[in-house]
Amino acid sequence: MQDESLSRQIRQKVDIVDIIGERIPLEKKGKNYFGVCPFHDDRSPSLCVSPEKQIYTCFSCHATGSVFTFLTNYENITFAEALQYLGEKVGVDTKNIHIKKQNPKYQQYYDLYDLTVKYYQNNLSTKLGETARSYLEKRGITEEIIKEFQIGLSLRGIDDLTKLLILKKYDLTDLNIMGLSNGDHDVYSNRIMFPLYDPNGRVVAFSGRVYASEDSNKYVNTKETPIFVKGDCLYHYHIAKQECRISKSVIVMEGFMDVIRASTIGIKNTIALMGTALTNEQIRLIKRLSNQIILCLDGDKPGRNAAYKIGEIFLKEGIEVKVVTLPHDDDPDSFILKEGKESFLSYLENAVNYNDYKIKVIREDVNFNSIQETSDYINRVIEEISVIDDVIRCEIILKKLAKDFNIGYNTLEKKFLNLRKKNQKPKVQLEVKKVSLSRKNKYRKAMEQVVYFMLTNEWVISEVEREKLLISDLDVRILVKEIIYYYKKYGSVTIADFITYLSDKDELLISLNSIINASYRDQLDKETLYLYFGVIREDSINRQIKVLEKKLREELDPKRQAMIGNEIRALRIGEIKNG
Ligand code: GTP
Ligand code: MN
Repeated sequence: MQDESLSRQIRQKVDIVDIIGERIPLEKKGKNYFGVCPFHDDRSPSLCVSPEKQIYTCFSCHATGSVFTFLTNYENITFAEALQYLGEKVGVDTKNIHIKKQNPKYQQYYDLYDLTVKYYQNNLSTKLGETARSYLEKRGITEEIIKEFQIGLSLRGIDDLTKLLILKKYDLTDLNIMGLSNGDHDVYSNRIMFPLYDPNGRVVAFSGRVYASEDSNKYVNTKETPIFVKGDCLYHYHIAKQECRISKSVIVMEGFMDVIRASTIGIKNTIALMGTALTNEQIRLIKRLSNQIILCLDGDKPGRNAAYKIGEIFLKEGIEVKVVTLPHDDDPDSFILKEGKESFLSYLENAVNYNDYKIKVIREDVNFNSIQETSDYINRVIEEISVIDDVIRCEIILKKLAKDFNIGYNTLEKKFLNLRKKNQKPKVQLEVKKVSLSRKNKYRKAMEQVVYFMLTNEWVISEVEREKLLISDLDVRILVKEIIYYYKKYGSVTIADFITYLSDKDELLISLNSIINASYRDQLDKETLYLYFGVIREDSINRQIKVLEKKLREELDPKRQAMIGNEIRALRIGEIKNG
């Protein structure tokens, strides 16, 4: 790998805890940091980040790696891009590294969308865009907002986008695949065009809004394409990604007009769900942003129901959920326009805890003239609060119930305590799973341990070299060779640097990850090391003997048979001597 010394230099200047900590919340426990793993559907903090080793490992999905591995997987960027990003951060010049575009076909698609955005933007500023401009103006969308969100306009029924793109040498088939053309017609006609972005901020689709016709579809979104998965889209995610680190929470809204409006008053840690049912990928993406979400959906009944449903989902994911309830006929967009920034901020500040919200919602449909409904309601509330950790809050709610319905506090408390006992979730243990350690035999374990110690105790490297061990398993043999090579070249080796060094050798990385995940002890003495050497040697000799025995069985010439027999005996004697 050509950028070895550069990556080594940069790696040593950054702290993996900072880089991961900027992206997911980490908590210090002992000498390591723990967070919710972004690489699988994690509910408890399984990701362990070691400041000492400068690597991360996930106890659950076994994702492992250095700061580079993390960035390439988390940000979905190439190694070179990660190098460049970190280089800039720590002031190491990376100008000379060559950034390879990953998939030239996709790059062509992104370019196609960039060009289309510019084309739509231009339309809006022409004479033909007058009506659209005045529509936007009436909605309080200023020039500045139009620019920031790259809002544009598709023209009525003249298929000029398709024509333009063909002129630019794009293939009509591609334009159809990419959802911009339908046959040789434009997909969008006479709509205000809002670009939709992927998590990296690239335009990958559009949502076109009617503004001057009676078309029943208010919005038309681009169909699924190789670069756009409809259900995974979250509007404004790429911006929220940065903002949520500062504000420590993410505000979830329904429509992208809401997000755009909030942005105009400086609230940018927002995303919009875009009207679809929440997908697993969206849940995963949102969880990455923050461990506190504020649901700020439309004030109408569907909006309130959605908050009830979505809140429950995130609560189960271990995320703190708060809910803002807007007036019945408002969404964030209309509310901000009418009531202004201060009023909206105070709504945000007074967002209620999801559990309280739920109790309020449950209350809405109860007929308190009915004894049955009233007692059902009280039981339901007690059930809901029995899972709340905050005992003081529980007591306040119980006291209020007792007072409101004139019931003895003790009666309520007894029921509450019973339910609580039943519902108490066992605390999730941060348990280090010994990855298939039991399935590895003692020879394999010895080989792996030697590799692990070479990376954690440098003196082991020269011991291994001096012993000229014959290691049976090919992957370990190569790993050992590579460690020695690396050590000779740089004079030192750490797990993090070595992972980086292997980053384009997938097979070896898999072996190394499995070794790291096996969580072997960190410390050892010479005596133990030589015990492992003995085991490795025994394994190697056994295998050689096996090969020779097979040869012996197939050999017909008695003279040669005798020779092989001698070889086997010699090996056996050697084994006894060494063992
Ligand atoms: P405005 O009416 O322009 O203020 O939009 P809004 O943001 O208030 O939209 P609304 O609350 O009606 O819907 C929320 C989100 O659902 C929108 O941002 C769209 O992404 C999506 N949506 C709404 N109507 C349609 C539709 O007719 N088709 C599609 N595909 N999506 C829609
Ligand atoms: Mn609206």
